[in-house]
Amino acid sequence: MNAQPVIVSSLLNRPQTMSDATFREMREFIYQKTGIYYQDNKKYLLESRISKRLQTLRMDRFEEYLDLIKFGAGREEEKKHLFDAITINETYFFRNEPQFDIMEKTLIPEILKAKAAGRSKLRVWSAASSSGEEAHTIAMIFLEKIKPKYPGVELEVVGTDISPSVIETARKGVYREYSVRNMPKNYLEKYFTAADGRYTVVEPVRKLVRFEHLNLYDQPRMRMMSSFDVVFCCNVLIYFDAKSKIQVVSNLYDSLNRGGYLFIGYAESLHGISSAFKVINFPKAITYKKE
Ligand SMILES: C[S@@+](CC[C@H](N)C(=O)[O-])C[C@H]1O[C@@H](n2cnc3c(N)ncnc32)[C@H](O)[C@@H]1O
Repeated sequence: MNAQPVIVSSLLNRPQTMSDATFREMREFIYQKTGIYYQDNKKYLLESRISKRLQTLRMDRFEEYLDLIKFGAGREEEKKHLFDAITINETYFFRNEPQFDIMEKTLIPEILKAKAAGRSKLRVWSAASSSGEEAHTIAMIFLEKIKPKYPGVELEVVGTDISPSVIETARKGVYREYSVRNMPKNYLEKYFTAADGRYTVVEPVRKLVRFEHLNLYDQPRMRMMSSFDVVFCCNVLIYFDAKSKIQVVSNLYDSLNRGGYLFIGYAESLHGISSAFKVINFPKAITYKKE
């Protein structure tokens, strides 16, 4: 008896389909703000992601939503929801293990050797960190493998992402089973407390990591990111077109110290995007050095 009104109201609240003209306008707006480019064949994806936002706002026309994000009084706040809605935040701990291995066994010893003797600080940036699994993985490896060999060395990891909700999750440091599925058992036992199917990163790891909201396509903010020894910018360049890749990668280059290294995703390449880096091939991963 009670079910019918609910079904009727959810049907009434379903947004209309997005016209091609509105798709193009929406795509351009998103591209100008984020560098993310939705190809023609991804219209359905954009439509379904934004339609959830329309339902929350009880709007039924995409044009109305476009008007809100372009000219509405609450447009700055709404942009955050839009970025949450359109980004793909898939990630997990130890996602690309060979990269972490290379960082620990080859790059960090080399970087530390080149730094002044005695106490030194390593700075690592997890750009497009999503909910923080990559940034926390780096801090755990530091405590487990690097600190015992170089007790005087300190680490600061900065995790950044355009999506405010994943940054909030990253700051809490509480994860589900899905995120820790690739985690070596000894790390899981040592660096988390587990309760009710939730895994909380322990304080000594969290102390090494801070998370900030940052759009990689925001030039002025990007220019303020500097002095990193290693940058991980993985599985995000795939969402950009060539022009935005060139801009973002050039800013990442500037953010590195000389002798620093960039990692990108396994399926990504800097071919045709940047020739500034020295490409170094390892058997299971590639890294890009700023000489
Ligand atoms: C697939 S996740 C990758 C997470 C992690 N780097 C990894 O490899 O597991 C891509 C992340 O990029 C973020 N992203 C997309 N466009 C961005 C932009 N313009 N600036 C910053 N982050 C962005 C998304 O919010 C998302 O969390």
